Amino acid sequence: MKKLTIPDIIQRKGGEKLTMLTAYDASFARLLDDVGVDMILVGDSLGMVLLGYESTVPVTMDEMIHHATAVRRGTSGFVVGDMPFLSYQTAISDTIKNAGRFFKEAGCDAVKLEGGPEVCDAVRALVRAGMPVMGHIGLTPQTAGSLGGYKVQGKDVESARKLLVDAQALEGAGVFAIVMECIPNRLAQVITEKVAVPTIGIGAGPSCDGQVLVTHDLLGMFDKFVPRFVRKYANLAPQIKDAVQSFTEEVKSGNFPDEKHSFTMQVDVEQLVAEDGDV
Ligand code: KIV
Repeated sequence: MKKLTIPDIIQRKGGEKLTMLTAYDASFARLLDDVGVDMILVGDSLGMVLLGYESTVPVTMDEMIHHATAVRRGTSGFVVGDMPFLSYQTAISDTIKNAGRFFKEAGCDAVKLEGGPEVCDAVRALVRAGMPVMGHIGLTPQTAGSLGGYKVQGKDVESARKLLVDAQALEGAGVFAIVMECIPNRLAQVITEKVAVPTIGIGAGPSCDGQVLVTHDLLGMFDKFVPRFVRKYANLAPQIKDAVQSFTEEVKSGNFPDEKHSFTMQVDVEQLVAEDGDV
């Protein structure tokens, strides 16, 4: 499948819905690529899904680059690298250096960062340096603590207005798309109508220009915490556990490996044994 360009993505505003899914390694990237997912996000959700952290806050740039590089090896499609917490909130020179690693070391096509007007200087600097940026507003997991936890955002008029301001500020700063996480459908619809760049929803209803989910969630592989907005298209965790259970039972009972899964020798082993007593 042909890799989308930034103009291709922007042109999809109001047209065919965009799809984005997370991948953290080459094998998943290859599977998503085979199906023709528009964009692959190397999300900092990998901190919770793969690395066992309690939140995305501890995720480091080195961890993100390690996984983004693996994803790049599995796909020739459009890859977005997620800027981890504190990789873009300090000096602009740090922001450019950190984002630059996603492009130079991992071959990403864009980076994503969380926040509204407070990150717009960073967005402008990246765009000026030639690095496409995707915004992320609403429930922003890196700062979930200040938002009162993993909660729906923009439920009252004041916070809804703030989210509209966030989206418009990001658009003005030059993002090519905006992820909107966990906000009411009607608010997502209003924001989608008011900005010219595509909105990509996650828990933001059907009016967005595209949808993103964490792949492990939609496959039913990560059951520690399943947000309400996730639709499980498969329930792989029990299947994986069943398969692993069968393996352990069959190894213990001597049922595995059997002849079909073993190799035979061309030479007469008995002759080798006779020649060398140590064999
Ligand atoms: O880190 C991530 O996977 C994300 C998506 C949930 C949008 O930011």
